Amino acid sequence: MPHKHSSLRIAAFASGRGSNFSAIVDAIESGELKSTAVGVISNNPDSGVIEFAESKEIPYAVINKNRYPDESELNNKILDTLDEWNANFIVLAGYMKKIDPSIVRKYKNRILNIHPALLPSFGGNKMYGLKVHESVLNSGVKYSGVTVHIVTDEYDKGPIVLQQVVPVYDDDTAEILQKRILKEEHTIYKEAIRLFEEDLVVVLGQRVVRKRENAED
Ligand code: GAR
Repeated sequence: MPHKHSSLRIAAFASGRGSNFSAIVDAIESGELKSTAVGVISNNPDSGVIEFAESKEIPYAVINKNRYPDESELNNKILDTLDEWNANFIVLAGYMKKIDPSIVRKYKNRILNIHPALLPSFGGNKMYGLKVHESVLNSGVKYSGVTVHIVTDEYDKGPIVLQQVVPVYDDDTAEILQKRILKEEHTIYKEAIRLFEEDLVVVLGQRVVRKRENAED
């Protein structure tokens, strides 16, 4: 039986330059992905990702503590915005805030995050950007990489969808390693999204596994 193709209406959450989001939009524009990018939520009004959304005429919303000091008001604003866009899938693309349990509950197994290391190592609160790569270099590991995982209430601990290994070289700096890894992020994120678009995976506890070819839908 052919797999269901569910068209995803993707909302991205991002805080920074947004190169991962722009790689996803590229894949949509080239037809590699079938999804629609319905909007961007950012806590940072000065982020590159907002500029990018503007240039592509993709809706965006700046939602942060400055504008919504009350936490439940902030989370409700996020939920209302997602409803307004009819979003049915969320990708975190360099979003530096924790996702509230109310959002995780509503979008169960429908929120992906990308992390620039091989989780469960080098993850957790405050582990983002160059800090991740500095910790990797300081630890002496010979391989780092990228992890795409489902977001749960536990920071960086949700079921892993895909990982890509990236070697660490002797003369790496955190910046050089970050660049090598970012390049892989742009490939692996769209591959992970495609698995959900085509309904190819199922979450079994902590594992994300391929649906069996002949399994009934
Ligand atoms: C990416 O490297 C992403 O993996 C990382 O932030 C960067 C965002 O870059 N995310 C984390 O560290 C999450 N803990 P981008 O804005 O160019 O996509």
